[in-house]
Order: sequence, then C-alpha cells, then structure tokens
Amino acid sequence: MARSGRLRVGVLASGRGSNLQAIIDASEAGKLEAVIVVVLSDKPDVYALERARRHAIPGLFVDPKSHATREAFDTALIAALTEHQVELVCLAGYMRVLTAAFINHFRHRVMNIHPALLPSFPGLHAQRQALRHGVKFSGCTVHFADEGVDTGPIIIQAVVPVFDDDSEETLAARILTYEHQIYPRAIQLYAEGRLRVRGRHVTCRGSEADRAPREGWGYMHP
Ligand code: GRF
Repeated sequence: MARSGRLRVGVLASGRGSNLQAIIDASEAGKLEAVIVVVLSDKPDVYALERARRHAIPGLFVDPKSHATREAFDTALIAALTEHQVELVCLAGYMRVLTAAFINHFRHRVMNIHPALLPSFPGLHAQRQALRHGVKFSGCTVHFADEGVDTGPIIIQAVVPVFDDDSEETLAARILTYEHQIYPRAIQLYAEGRLRVRGRHVTCRGSEADRAPREGWGYMHP
C-alpha cells in the first residue's frame, strides 16, 4: 500500500556522514519519499552532526558515558527517535552494536550499510579484509539490522571490481560511490512499501523493471 506522507527517518552516525549526506541530498531533491527528522551521534564533534545542522535537521549528541549500561544508552536513543516519530532508523557509519532491546523495538525498521558483499567481510575494515583475501569483486550491502554484527537480511547490494593496484583507499572510494546510490534506493523501496521480509529473505515487489545492469563499474540489485 502506498504511504500517504513522507517516511520519517532517523539516522545514527559516528563519523563523517557521507551516506547521511547522500540521503539528505536525495530527500531534498525530491527523489525520496522520505525525510530525515533527526540525526543522533554517540560522538560529540563529528561531521555528520555538522551536516545535519547545515540542513536544519535536529542533530543530537547522546553521550554513552552518561549512561551506566548499553541498554540505558539505547533506551535514550529509542526515546529520542520516538520523540521525533521516527518510522525507519538508518545506521550510517554508526560504530556501536545495538542492543537486542533496540533491535526488538524497531524490528525490520533498522537499516545498515556495510562496505562489502555480506556475508563476506563483516565488522571493521571491510575493504582491508577484501584486499587481503584477494577477491576480484567487492561492493556494498544495505541490510536490515539484527542482533549480530552485519548479519541481518540483505535488501540490496552493489558489486564493484577489485584491481591489482588497489589500495584500501581506492577500493573504499569506488565502493562509496555505490553506497551513496544504494542507501537512498533501499530507503525509497521501503518508503514505497515494496519490501517484504521472510526469515533471511527480503523480496522487493515490482522490481523486474529494475533488474538490468546499471551503467558504470558496478552492478546493482534489485
Ligand atoms: C561507510 O563505508 C559505511 O558503509 C560504513 O561506514 C562508512 C561510513 O561512512 N558502515 P560515512 O560516515 O557515511 O561517510
């Protein structure tokens, strides 16, 4: 069923926020039936919060040190997201593992982006892991977050080649170009109500027209 208003998105970020920016840009350009209503960070001075400020989006630092447990910290996050009537939570370079309570509260309503073709190379330094392993292709994945680290049901992936002379930086940059495409796309698919989750499987209704390989280095699906 089509939504009546724009999907209300809350973003959690711990760093530079280039994925946040891609979502903001898509939203402001009218390419997304979604609007970011709040940005939360566990770090005080990150560029992600500055980006929020520049676009008049409420940006809040929530201090992990002022909460006794991870559960108490995540409860504070849930409160802030609820206060802003967030319908979908997007993790964009958020460097903390969410508690089971948070995941349960927003079950299948939390997305994450990871710079590798999951389930390969989860966790930190995904591009370094890919280079060390000697893979010929890598890419990025948007998935629903579950209780594990980068383990939830996969929504969309993009593939890029790995070249012999790649450094971590060149590979990361090639992947990042696609991150900035697939994250807004996954959010749009969600906003359109086209995603269904059954166990590990996310299906996308009406995606046949989108199945042709896209132009450029990589290949995106769906
Ligand atoms: C991205 O590579 C994302 O896939 C990973 O952390 C990085 C965040 O980059 N989870 P940015 O803060 O969005 O620029």
